[in-house]
Amino acid sequence: MAIKAVIFDLDGVIVSTDEFHYQAWKKMSDEEGISFNHTINNRLRGVSRMESLNIILERAEREYTAEEKQALAERKNEYYKQSLVNLTPDDLLPGAKDTIDELKRRKVKIAIGSSSKNTPTILKQIGLADAFDAVADGNDITHSKPDPEVFLLAASKLGIPPEECLVVEDAEAGVQAAIAGGMNVAAVGDAGLHSQDADYRLERVDEILDLI
Ligand code: BG6
Ligand code: MG
Repeated sequence: MAIKAVIFDLDGVIVSTDEFHYQAWKKMSDEEGISFNHTINNRLRGVSRMESLNIILERAEREYTAEEKQALAERKNEYYKQSLVNLTPDDLLPGAKDTIDELKRRKVKIAIGSSSKNTPTILKQIGLADAFDAVADGNDITHSKPDPEVFLLAASKLGIPPEECLVVEDAEAGVQAAIAGGMNVAAVGDAGLHSQDADYRLERVDEILDLI
């Protein structure tokens, strides 16, 4: 495989913020009396904040207005941002830092492709604000995963054709986005366990070093 660039998802691939997302949605759901658990949470991986809320509200006992939904999404984001204050490089997932360092050593381009609007804050907190050759995130895009927009933007910022990129994802929505963008895709975490369509299913992110 002629891979010239790796595009990493952020939450659940580089850093354990996927659990912070869960905790913040759980707090909001409990307050609203809506049932929510880790199984439902797996459907929120990779999708935007409002699309995540719509999935949670499938179990609500009443309809919510657009204004109420906006307020709920903002409330969740406030809870989430409170947890980001305590985020440090210790929250990097096993193998993530070594993988980044080794890809740099091999002169493979690296990028972030994340649906999260909190990406800049997170990269700063974990000490990786300047680590990537390109960052494409929720602030740059109109359509979130499974649409390929964020990955195509990352590839274009790197100047590398999609077919020479490897995407690393923990979300099924992200796996589908990479495929739709014509990229190779390695699944880790939840998608590593369950994705039928990924080219590779891995336990840890550093296993990609054997693929390149
Ligand atoms: C993705 C997460 O990275 O970002 C999703 O996997 C989340 O769970 C999405 O909904 C949007 O994040 P944010 O930080 O913009 O609310
Ligand atoms: Mg993710």
